Amino acid sequence: MRHRLDAEPAVLWIRGALGRWYDTHRRDLPWRRTTDPYAIWVSEVMLQQTQVATVGSYYARWLERFPTVAHLAAADLQNVLKCWEGLGYYARARNFHRAAQILVRQLGGRVPDDPVAFRALPGVGDYIAAAVLSIAFGRPLAVVDGNVKRVLARFLKIHAPANAPTAHKMFAPVAAQWLDSRDPGRFNQAVMELGALICTPRQPRCEVCPIADGCRSLAEGCQADYPRRLPRRAVPEHRLLAAVVEKGGRLLIVQRPMDGLLGGLWEFPSLPLAQGQGAEAACRAALFELLGLHVQVVGGAGRIRHAYTHFKIDAEVYCCTWQAGRVRRRGPAAHRWVAPDRLADYPLTGAAHKVKARVWGSRTNAAERTR
Ligand code: ADE
Repeated sequence: MRHRLDAEPAVLWIRGALGRWYDTHRRDLPWRRTTDPYAIWVSEVMLQQTQVATVGSYYARWLERFPTVAHLAAADLQNVLKCWEGLGYYARARNFHRAAQILVRQLGGRVPDDPVAFRALPGVGDYIAAAVLSIAFGRPLAVVDGNVKRVLARFLKIHAPANAPTAHKMFAPVAAQWLDSRDPGRFNQAVMELGALICTPRQPRCEVCPIADGCRSLAEGCQADYPRRLPRRAVPEHRLLAAVVEKGGRLLIVQRPMDGLLGGLWEFPSLPLAQGQGAEAACRAALFELLGLHVQVVGGAGRIRHAYTHFKIDAEVYCCTWQAGRVRRRGPAAHRWVAPDRLADYPLTGAAHKVKARVWGSRTNAAERTR
């Protein structure tokens, strides 16, 4: 294996240096003050795609609402998504909820310490299994996340792109070789912490790095060249028309299909807008076609733009009033007519929050203009 550190003493030195550094420099984070496997699992599911600074308040709120696996299993999915609202990658919340329900049915709500049983749960992949089982149960499983890949790639000058589909296969054996099986949870967190605090994507603080002495890219001054990455694919932008339809003081929201992007979240009905299409006529036609509603377009409320991870949207917002018809369910999983002050009860997409702000903003402005 090309990137192995052949000399065992080098690995022993890395384990010692990283462990000691972690003990004195680790951040005091709430999930580091618990030994509860469920709470550790919560933190790792959140941290998988989200920055530590963002996770803090979500973590506390989540454990207040769902303090155990049993509480999570018994909760309504809507409340689970509401608690996750804004964290992104909503499949994480849906899978976690399903995993909790399976655990209650099969294991009395206990988090299994066995990798095979744990990995069989929805949403538990290599990362979650290694992080939770090593930290909560001391299982010798090496974590491979973005921070770990960056540390390894720089230290060993690993050429494999860190964002390639095959990256895990390339980096996992090296991470496993480094792992200190006497305290795998501490070691995994030490490497991740080093990536978060010292071996940062830009301007790494090599002068205070505890393993700078063995770092191959530092020795050659080429830290900035690692990790290698494949060029990102361009993110598609969808042009949409978003309709805020009002009926008797209530607004229509629709739920996105459970199995798709942003599954289970709520939004204002939105439709693709073809180039050159007259927006008002398109709005009326599309609401009839999609939902079976006759509406009158009251006016435009401007444009919103929103970037998700996999796509961007650029939407023209129209305010409409309902005239006739019952909602016919075709696209959305469900729909509700909701009083504006009850919108906050629903987990909304990021774009829906912007639409809401636009409409409220324009109403406030119109009211101010007529005063
Ligand atoms: N990133 C994700 N999980 C982490 C952990 N437990 N410690 C440090 N960084 C992390």
